[in-house]
Formats: sequence, structure tokens, C-alpha cells
Amino acid sequence: MSSIRPGAVAADAVFAVEGLSARYGKVEALRPVSLHLGAGELVAVLGPNGAGKSTLLRAIMGLTPGEGRVRFEGRDLPRDDARGVTQRGVVLVPEGRGIFGPMSVRDNLDLGAYLLQHDTAEIKTRLERVFAMFPRLKDRQSQLAGSLSGGEQQMLAIGRALMAGPRLLLLDEPSLGLAPRLAAEILETLGELNRGGLPVLLVEQRAPMALKIAARAYLMSVGRIVAEVTPDQISSPRDLARYYFSHDH
Ligand SMILES: Nc1ncnc2c1ncn2[C@@H]1O[C@H](COP(=O)(O)OP(=O)(O)OP(=O)(O)O)[C@@H](O)[C@H]1O
Ligand SMILES: [Mg+2]
Repeated sequence: MSSIRPGAVAADAVFAVEGLSARYGKVEALRPVSLHLGAGELVAVLGPNGAGKSTLLRAIMGLTPGEGRVRFEGRDLPRDDARGVTQRGVVLVPEGRGIFGPMSVRDNLDLGAYLLQHDTAEIKTRLERVFAMFPRLKDRQSQLAGSLSGGEQQMLAIGRALMAGPRLLLLDEPSLGLAPRLAAEILETLGELNRGGLPVLLVEQRAPMALKIAARAYLMSVGRIVAEVTPDQISSPRDLARYYFSHDH
């Protein structure tokens, strides 16, 4: 295996999760998990339903209480303080998108920039960047977010995250519920963002698509990272299943 030993932290890691665990009552949803991202890296987290992928992202953000350490740009991220984490530049696009249906597209985007308060020039610059990336959002600024198509809602969720000025973007299954072509389009946009220098941690179930844009992937099963792979090591879904199910207990 050409990959680094799982859990080993590269010296140039910009982001590192060290022994992060989380539980819901008696359910141990996240056994101690460790992973890292290098500067400008796009890394995928793949795994079947219930593997603990969303719990991992929520624990990183401090949305789910967890034990362990999360470091970003050389400093610990606060725990139990999602706003504080976002203020440090770590922004989550949550599972199910988390947009506000009864509000307009534009209001949803503005909400993403709430940490900037009154810096209207910067808000305008960011808005233009989001519209350049997703022209469909520009055309639908006054439309209610809830009436957008699934793909447009996902664009809005990503656009809103970009309005917060992320220095690390976390995404929870951005392709969920989208037709394959639209899913590929969304992931390609993420690849573009990453090529612009933004580090990305991408949770996905659509492994082949994620592996097209990711430099590496962590494979999760039953609350653990069971392997770290590079895209060339996975040539068929069977390869993945072998990793997941050989570590099922
Ligand atoms: N709020 C909760 N209360 C109790 N158990 C939970 C809660 N949220 C998640 N779990 C459990 O924790 C485990 C991990 O769930 P999680 O949502 O992190 O998985 P996932 O990998 O994101 O799955 P999916 O691909 O279906 O989104 C599952 O067994 C799930 O049932
Ligand atoms: Mg999930």
C-alpha cells in the first residue's frame, strides 16, 4: 500500500483529527478516529450507511459532543462551539443541505456571510464569486429556496458555505438524491474549488465519483477508519466492500 499508515499525521498537515470519538447514549457512533489533510488537499471519507460519517463531521464542528482533539492551522479548534469553529474558517455543508426553504436564495446566501457583519464590500465580492460559479443561483435570487430543484438547493448550500469565506470546507454527501449527471457536476465544481487552493474533506457514498476528484480517501465502517487508500487502489465497488466488511466487527 502506497498510503501513509492510518492515523499518522503528516508534518505539513493543515488539519488533523486526533482520537476523536462520539457516542449517542450507549451507541458508540465514532470510535477514536484520526485523520489529516495537507494544505490544498481534497480528501474523501467513504463508507456505507451508519458508518459514522456524519457523526465525524458533526463532532469536528462541535455539533455533536465528542472526545478528542481537532487541530486546524496549528491551533486546536474549540469544542462544543460550532460558531467558533466556523469563525476559524472551517465550514460545513450539512447532510440534507440545511438551507432555509421559506427564505429567498439571496437571503440564504447573505446568512452564510453573517460572520462578516457589515463588511459590505467583501460580501459583494463573495456573492459575485458564488454567482460566477453557480449562474443558476444568480438568475433565481428572489426565488424561495424551498422551490429550487434538488441540484439547485445543493448549489445554494455550497454557495452559502462559500459566503462564510471557508479556509476548509467539509461536505456531507453533497450528491445525495441527485441524478448522476447533476451529482457529477456538483463534484466537479468541488474539484475546481479545490484546485483554487481550498482544502476539502468530502463525505460521500458515491465512491467512484468522489475518487475522481480526491487525492486520497479514508474508508469508514462501524465508527472506525478501516483503511486509507489512493484512487488507483480502488478499481471496482468490490474493492471497497472488501475493506468495509472485512472490518465489520
Ligand atoms: N441522534 C442520534 N441518536 C442516536 N443514534 C444516532 C444519532 N445519529 C446517528 N446515530 C447512530 O450513529 C451511527 C452513525 O450514524 P451517522 O449518521 O454518523 O452515519 P453515516 O455514516 O453518516 O450514515 P449515512 O450514510 O446513512 O448518512 C448510526 O448507527 C446511527 O444510527
Ligand atoms: Mg450521514
